[in-house]
Amino acid sequence: MAETKQNIVMFPYMGQGHIIPLLALALRIEKTNKYTITFVNTPLNIKKLTSSLPPNSSIHLLELPFNSSDHGLPPDAENMDSLPYHHFITLFRASMSLKPHFRKLVSNLIHERNGEKPVCIISDMFLGWCKEIAQEFGIFHAIFISCSAFGSACYYSLWLNLPHRNTDSDEFMLPDFPEASTFHVTQLSEVLRVADASDPTTAFQRKELISPWSKVDGILFNTVEEIDKLGLMYFSRKLGRQVWPIGPVLLAPGSQARSRRDFGISPEECKKWLDKKPSCSVLYVSFGSQNTISPSNMIQMAMALEACGKFFIWVVRPPIGFDINSEFKANEWLPEGFEKRIKDSGRGLLVHKWAPQVEILSHKSLSAFLSHCGWNSLVEALSYGVPIVGWPLVAEQFYNVKLLEKEIGVCVEVARGRSCEVFHEEIVAKIEMVMNESEKGKEIRKKALEVKEIIKNALKDEENFMGSSMKAMDQFLDACINENKKIQP
Ligand SMILES: *[C@@H]1O[C@H](CO)[C@@H](O)[C@H](O)[C@H]1NC(C)=O
Ligand SMILES: *[C@@H]1O[C@H](CO)[C@@H](O)[C@H](O)[C@H]1NC(C)=O
Ligand SMILES: *[C@@H]1O[C@H](CO)[C@@H](O)[C@H](O)[C@H]1NC(C)=O
Repeated sequence: MAETKQNIVMFPYMGQGHIIPLLALALRIEKTNKYTITFVNTPLNIKKLTSSLPPNSSIHLLELPFNSSDHGLPPDAENMDSLPYHHFITLFRASMSLKPHFRKLVSNLIHERNGEKPVCIISDMFLGWCKEIAQEFGIFHAIFISCSAFGSACYYSLWLNLPHRNTDSDEFMLPDFPEASTFHVTQLSEVLRVADASDPTTAFQRKELISPWSKVDGILFNTVEEIDKLGLMYFSRKLGRQVWPIGPVLLAPGSQARSRRDFGISPEECKKWLDKKPSCSVLYVSFGSQNTISPSNMIQMAMALEACGKFFIWVVRPPIGFDINSEFKANEWLPEGFEKRIKDSGRGLLVHKWAPQVEILSHKSLSAFLSHCGWNSLVEALSYGVPIVGWPLVAEQFYNVKLLEKEIGVCVEVARGRSCEVFHEEIVAKIEMVMNESEKGKEIRKKALEVKEIIKNALKDEENFMGSSMKAMDQFLDACINENKKIQP
């Protein structure tokens, strides 16, 4: 009797990088066959999800009313991916208008189930305010953080303490997280570097973004305990909340979380190209969906790829200063004749817009990934044992690199930030360091394969062995049921 299953409400932030991991989590919970799942978002995102859910899924998709034009956003802008970076805060503020609608939705759900409340609400890290509504109805509430625990911990501590403002040195420590060791000012995004306690960004970060985290019942992390212990320790110590490392939650290869027309190349065509290359010979280069590099760095990147002589797939987006979603102009932004040369020689593949990333990372021809170090990309790469050449651009990406290079040992950092100046010789050196048969290269690649095994084990759910992430998942669901009973509206 399906109707007797308890209900879980899940609410991701409006951005593919937030929706996809939470959807993957929903599909994992669905597999337990013990819960019904209500997945909530704005109309256009729900419409997109309708076509990406597996046909046999019983996840209920529910819309909250939202019209981007009412919030100073372009028409039909309901997703971070379709917005330039500077609209981030506008969309964030707009998302707060969903509060009364979400309250009504929860109230209706309870009413439809004759007064039985959902067993928990899992909301995105950017929707910490859901706690207030959960509290009102007496429902257990956790946030889902789609970043590494270490990266989030550094980010949290930096905004809370602004330690770089208390020193004349370029290097500093985090007062409440000394275990993270030293930081350098180049590891701060521009907004953070200039922040003092009185500016609007600090106020926004503290009050609206991170402060709700200290009130939630618990935190789910899309990470793996064995590789991310320090950050998990920071949050349980700092907030006194339960933390559950349940990651990685990934969609299966081939699941269509994006519509096919978003891809600059079909997965089949991409595979065909990779199939012709020797095993472990190709470098994959991508700066993610939200980001890009400066025009001069784009030229240096292209020169490096030609100079290093490796096979490569490069996902190109217009450089900083141009609309990131506009058409890519190779003859304007790349060295003259670059695209034709690499095509004729079969050396490289330029992909406009989206590449089928999981298909690429899981291919045996792949050797390394030059990445902006967004966590979703990194967990995908690590799940397939791919080592990283790191070029963090914003936010907590700087600390993800630190985790991967200094704590785990699967990465070499090549450059830092959106406005750094980097020369192609340096890029070549770092690519060769990871891909060549040097001692360092061998060590990094060996470590990456070890991490792949760690991740595989964390996700095991067998009769006589349960991995750390599956254990954490069970503990979380137990907490939902046990704690939920105790919470009074
Ligand atoms: C749906 O089908 C897929 C593939 O056959 C299977 O792995 C999955 O468990 C099914 N899901 C449900 C909810 O039945
Ligand atoms: C959103 O608001 C604009 C301006 O008021 C209106 O033209 C448009 O039709 C609305 N869109 C939807 C989907 O209701
Ligand atoms: C890396 O290997 C290439 C040939 O595959 C060679 O030309 C280059 O000099 C090597 N670089 C280093 C740093 O060893």
